[in-house]
Amino acid sequence: MPQPALRALEQVVSGRLTRDGAGVSLTRLLERPLQQRLDPFLMLDLFGSDHPDDYIAGFPDHPHRGFETITYMLAGRMRHQDSAGHQGLLESGGLQWMIAGRGVIHSELPEQQEGRMAGFQLWLNLPAAQKLCEPWYRDFRAEELPRFRLDHGVEGIVLAGESHGVEGAVQRPQTEPLILDLKLPPHIPFRQSIPAAYHAFVVPFAGSVEVQGQRIPTHQLGILGSGEILELQSSSPTRVLLVAGRPLGEPIVQHGPFVMNSQQEIEETLAAYGAGLLA
Ligand code: FE2
Repeated sequence: MPQPALRALEQVVSGRLTRDGAGVSLTRLLERPLQQRLDPFLMLDLFGSDHPDDYIAGFPDHPHRGFETITYMLAGRMRHQDSAGHQGLLESGGLQWMIAGRGVIHSELPEQQEGRMAGFQLWLNLPAAQKLCEPWYRDFRAEELPRFRLDHGVEGIVLAGESHGVEGAVQRPQTEPLILDLKLPPHIPFRQSIPAAYHAFVVPFAGSVEVQGQRIPTHQLGILGSGEILELQSSSPTRVLLVAGRPLGEPIVQHGPFVMNSQQEIEETLAAYGAGLLA
């Protein structure tokens, strides 16, 4: 039997410093030019600062349609409120999963005046047939998130999908996202099987990580080639976000916070938003 193919590191992306919302400082690691390459993932923002000026303005009321937002807090507290009546406080180590579907208007505002605020927001596309589904939302506190611990001290938090016999907090049948927060001790290889055709990437957020001897520095995005097995390794203690999912292979048309399949659908969305029909 042939050996399963190991995924190679294809490209390292350092992202772009920008501000979004009412002036939140962030690093945008995934955006338009990589949306086809990393389909079904549309965007990845990394935020992290000890300076209130970088986060205090937050993200006041804004709309979304056509995809899902996944927010993972590493430090700090963020209050969420939306037009579907959902409300929650996202705290350090917590996860918020929102399916915007046909539309929500929401705010994401820091609930702290000082201290560190850090985390990720990932956008996951919805298949054409579900873009106008009912919105859905759930918060998970850190202690509610499924986790595993392997021999030699590897620890994993399974935000979505399944890993090492542990079912993640969220399952999405069409795009089958796998989202892991991994803690790797030095010189202990970690193996994860991923269907060969799924797109995958990693982002170390403490230390760096290696894929077949190629290093991905902290806070940079490593795009992985195809293959059934991913092997990660590091020479120092590291914490890394691993993301994989099944590509949808559908046209992607983004207009700011709306992601649809055609320009026509974007025009319809803008008209609906203008008429107050998104909430
Ligand atoms: Fe948002």
